[in-house]
Amino acid sequence: MSSSEQSQGTVLIRGGEVVDPTGRRRADVGIRNGQVVAVGEGLEADRHDRVIDAEGCIVSTGFVDLHSHLREPGQEEAETIESGSRGAALGGYTTVLAMPNTIPAIDSASIVRDVMQLAETALCDVLPTGAITKGRAGEQLAPMAEMAALGVTMFTDDGAGVADNTLMRRAMEYATGLDVTLAQHCEDPALSQGGSMHEGEWSSRLGIPAQPAEAEELMVMRDVALAKLTGAKAHFQHLSTRRSIEMVRDAKAFGLPITCEATTHHFTLTHAECASFNPVFKVNPPLRTDDDVLAVREALADGTIDAIATDHAPHAPENKELPFDQASPGMLGLETALALALTELDLPIERVLALMSWRPARLGGIGHEVDGRIDEGTRADLAVIDPSVQWTVSGAAMASRSRNTPYEGRLLTGRVRHTIHRGEIVVMNGEAQR
Ligand code: DOR
Repeated sequence: MSSSEQSQGTVLIRGGEVVDPTGRRRADVGIRNGQVVAVGEGLEADRHDRVIDAEGCIVSTGFVDLHSHLREPGQEEAETIESGSRGAALGGYTTVLAMPNTIPAIDSASIVRDVMQLAETALCDVLPTGAITKGRAGEQLAPMAEMAALGVTMFTDDGAGVADNTLMRRAMEYATGLDVTLAQHCEDPALSQGGSMHEGEWSSRLGIPAQPAEAEELMVMRDVALAKLTGAKAHFQHLSTRRSIEMVRDAKAFGLPITCEATTHHFTLTHAECASFNPVFKVNPPLRTDDDVLAVREALADGTIDAIATDHAPHAPENKELPFDQASPGMLGLETALALALTELDLPIERVLALMSWRPARLGGIGHEVDGRIDEGTRADLAVIDPSVQWTVSGAAMASRSRNTPYEGRLLTGRVRHTIHRGEIVVMNGEAQR
């Protein structure tokens, strides 16, 4: 930055390696008024700059989570938009899409407005998703147009799939007209019957009521067919089985506008964890087999899976610390996602960043603002990552109001050191700044 460009409140990220879709290069990054204003080696700081040390670090655009449960309104004892956004910022996220299974559900313009208002003071962008059906009850379409008019780009009944074929067809036709994405939690309730884990060898041994892989796969199969019928943009959430992924691979090869995500837990944990009877391992869709985990990893590598999502699902102890079949499903994810991807996936960091940042940005409908490039004039949503630091996961140390991490005590490699959201340093040296 030349001295004429300096002003109070500028930030200089110094000594890092910038990684973006155009490649990697050693460069400092200058930020002013929420934007990147300079990228280059040897940028000079002046006395007004806040200088961020990025020595040994990777500088990336901030991460985008397509799938977080922030629990507000209605379950503030488990999480709030504020606490969830703090965890997100600590995890390197600058945008999260908040799922609509709040109480009440985000199924009308007025609730969308409430969530947007709560999000104004968050530590990252929090974008509400809207429900496909009123009250997520699967019976009548929600007023998607009035929510889309407020900027909602993705709709889902997450926590449940839309079971009715005709209703889902109508939702897709409606979504096509609005140019929004329909995201599906694929679970046929008639087949899953509320099963608490994956149906297989382990559920038989443990005697835990279970749901078969086919409960997910049937809905993937149906939605591929409906996407073909309607031309809708369909996004499959948290895919967890080999067959589901194969169907998406085929549908993409056929040219359908289909995308999908996988969660960190579905590439790091299997149903064998349930042998502990610890409900922290209860999640929907459930943890699957070794072969399913392998399939998720292969699809992350070959591009079939478009994005890594967290499905961050905080739960208060009174809902989680119960017998396995009575506990709420879900696990924390925002603060461990990057480290799990770097530690567990044998992928180059560029690919991990694509899966966590610029590809989900495009899918979430914010790609016009965050396309992954770090260049003059781009929005200063950035994560500075130390790829080699080792740390041990601790639920108690997390920003979340809940503690249900399945990775307690696990040693991971790689962590976000600093996060910059719209030019503001929200995390510095691993500490949230507010
Ligand atoms: O495990 C899950 N928890 N899966 C879902 O689909 C919903 C989520 C939640 O809201 O807790």
